[in-house]
Formats: sequence, C-alpha cells, structure tokens
Amino acid sequence: MPSHPAFTLRGYHAQDLQALVELFSAAVHQLGAADYEQTQRQAWAPAQADMPAWKTRLAALELLIAEDSRQLAGFIGFTSDGHIDLLFTAPRYARQGVAAMLYAAAQTRIEAAGATSVFTEASLTARPFFARQGFSVEQAQTVVRGAVTLQRFAMRKPLRPLNG
Ligand SMILES: CC(C)(COP(=O)(O)OP(=O)(O)OC[C@H]1O[C@@H](n2cnc3c(N)ncnc32)[C@H](O)[C@@H]1OP(=O)(O)O)[C@@H](O)C(=O)NCCC(=O)NCCS
Repeated sequence: MPSHPAFTLRGYHAQDLQALVELFSAAVHQLGAADYEQTQRQAWAPAQADMPAWKTRLAALELLIAEDSRQLAGFIGFTSDGHIDLLFTAPRYARQGVAAMLYAAAQTRIEAAGATSVFTEASLTARPFFARQGFSVEQAQTVVRGAVTLQRFAMRKPLRPLNG
C-alpha cells in the first residue's frame, strides 16, 4: 500500500488551463487504454486540443483541482444542478483516492445548492468509480465522434434533501 500523499483542493485559475488539458489527455490515453481502442481515445482526446473549446466548456462549470506540493493530481467540473461533467485523475496518482476526494467535495456543494440527485455520463473506465460512490446505471449510451463510436453510461445517484 503506497503512502498517501497530502492532496489539497482549490479552485481553478486561468493559468491552470494547459496543465488541466494535459492531465485530461494523459488520463484518457493511459487510464482509458484498458477500455478504449487507440482510435477511440484519439477521438476523445485529440493530440491537438481545441483550447478555445476547452475555455468555453470550463467557463460553464464549477471546477475543483486536487494537487500535491508539486503538480495537479486531478480535477472535477460540475454544475449546481447535480451534473458531473468532468472527472479526471493524473495517471501517476490513480487509485490513491484523488477522484473520491474531488467527488465528495463536489457532492457537498451540489447538496448545498439543493439538487436532489447527482448525475453523469460515465466512461467504461469511470463506471466502477461512480458505482462505488452510489451511482446506478440508467442507460447505456453510444457517442459518435466522426467515424468513431464510444460507449458510456448515464448514471445517477439520489441525494437526501438537506432538511429532509
Ligand atoms: C475514473 C477516474 C477519475 C478514477 O480516479 P481515481 O483517482 O483513480 O479514483 P479513486 O482512487 O478515488 O477510486 C475510488 C474507488 O473507486 C473505485 N475505482 C476507481 N477506479 C477503478 C477502476 N479502474 N476499477 C475498479 N474500481 C475503480 C474503487 O472502488 C476505488 O477504491 P479503491 O482504490 O480503494 O479500490 C480515473 O480512473 C480516470 O481519470 N480515468 C480516465 C478518464 C475517465 O474515464 N474519466 C471519467 C470520465 S466520465
């Protein structure tokens, strides 16, 4: 069992953009390799990232970043209605509780905003993670990106009302 490094959470700053997109790409290509073919991973995380599109996507989300003393370890992007849009862990920090820490902080914020459930579109890779957090599969989905298709799952977890 590796020792647990001290991860801290903080908000996103514009200067994180490059490192965040690099983390996303590394997570897709390394952690996703067990579940998706190379052509599928290239469609999901192209070698040339569309940075203007990333800026637009991130601007619509609440973002939390996990880091250790040296570098980004993971990030989550969500909206207060309960949608978890992005959740990625840097490969070198996989299975050390980074995503669980990010998810717990996001759920606390979503609950405080009054949402009654949390939902996501989970990759094959992320499905066991979300199942562990109490999500159930509502629907298998197929995403078409050009000539490539990717499987994912609509998953949801009910939340208890704060004052219920
Ligand atoms: C899915 C992902 C975010 C999980 O990140 P992580 O930081 O490694 O997850 P955690 O260490 O917090 O995992 C918590 C628990 O979730 C479950 N879990 C996480 N990854 C798992 C896997 N690959 N297989 C089975 N269970 C898994 C386990 O129960 C784990 O607890 P354990 O390690 O004590 O057994 C990460 O694998 C990732 O970035 N994947 C590639 C990109 C991706 O698919 N992102 C989600 C898009 S929807």
